[in-house]
Amino acid sequence: MTDNQVFIFDTTLRDGEQVPGCKLNMDQKVEIARQLEKLGVDIIEAGFPVSSPGDFQAVQEVCRAVTAPTVCGLSRAVENDIKTAAEALQYAKRPRIHTGIGTSDSHIKYKLRSTQEEILERAVAAVKYAKSFVEDVEFYAEDAGRTDNEYLARVLEAVIKAGATTLNIPDTTGYCLPEEYGAKIRYLRENVRGIEKAILSTHCHNDLGLATANSIAGVQNGARQIECTINGIGERAGNTSLEETVMILKQRPDLPYFTNISSKLIYSTSRLVSERMGMPVQPNKAIVGANAFAHSSGIHQDGVIKRRDTYEIIDPLEVGVDHSKIVLTARSGRAAIAYRAKNIGHNLTKDELDVVYARFLEVADSMKEVDDTALEQIIVSKTARAAQTA
Ligand code: KIV
Ligand code: ZN
Repeated sequence: MTDNQVFIFDTTLRDGEQVPGCKLNMDQKVEIARQLEKLGVDIIEAGFPVSSPGDFQAVQEVCRAVTAPTVCGLSRAVENDIKTAAEALQYAKRPRIHTGIGTSDSHIKYKLRSTQEEILERAVAAVKYAKSFVEDVEFYAEDAGRTDNEYLARVLEAVIKAGATTLNIPDTTGYCLPEEYGAKIRYLRENVRGIEKAILSTHCHNDLGLATANSIAGVQNGARQIECTINGIGERAGNTSLEETVMILKQRPDLPYFTNISSKLIYSTSRLVSERMGMPVQPNKAIVGANAFAHSSGIHQDGVIKRRDTYEIIDPLEVGVDHSKIVLTARSGRAAIAYRAKNIGHNLTKDELDVVYARFLEVADSMKEVDDTALEQIIVSKTARAAQTA
């Protein structure tokens, strides 16, 4: 590890699986965990063992199935949760218990009906109890995004003393702005005694579409673990997307951070999760959406055909997509028609291209997309007619 390594904590199998209708069976969880291991994820949050016997067993099986990543089980700050998580993790090569409690005024007053002092004591007790089972204990301060920084710092200082080695700062409701979330992480780095013994972790939800931006702001201000999911799936509007954060850190030369992720496996992992969860990926989803490397307007197509990086900041091969797509629509230009025609075996002359293009526009206005079969028909009918009249 160096100071610039960012650990990737994948919670697709826990926070991601909380999405209504996306429940996975045990075999599917194990299949995805194996893929996450290949992808190079550092920590897999495999489930919430106390939540159901099925999830308990799934966490156990994930522990048996993978060896390189740490396997983590979630618990509330409740002894039975923690003990159950420890039991489920007993076969893990590297087990981690993730325990915690709400720290915002809203959670303390309305959800937990408690006081700040009592919550602090419960947090410490939970970490100490978890520590009696495993060395690697992560503490989450639920709703940290809306928690007063001074109180949050007090809680974190106390749980570090109790043995927590990773501190998760969830923006549970997706409320923070990037600057605000980054400043929170910085404040904790600068004001929590003993913070150098722990890793600060981001865990951002996407209610305002800011989960990725907030996670990156967290890293820029001292966090060294990102909690995320494949395709950004998760409660409500979802969690931080693994593919987005990893590719931001990889693509931007001004960000000196790196992860262990083998980016070429991103697309296949995205497909696997989408299929097993029955959760389609929106076509315009960054990095893994069907249109992420598709170009349909004439101006863009002309640029990309001349040189890919005129309109693409990522080489699709880098994320396991085998090529960019030139999609033919009524907005396409001659360069795109010539390019696609060549791909299906027609090297059109300039005159041929002119007649094919004129007919293409008529056809394209009545279709959403002109596929290879339709293009072939246009080319054959137009070039044959031109040959007859010549
Ligand atoms: O969003 C959240 O606060 C969580 C915690 C349970 C870690 O998922
Ligand atoms: Zn969450």
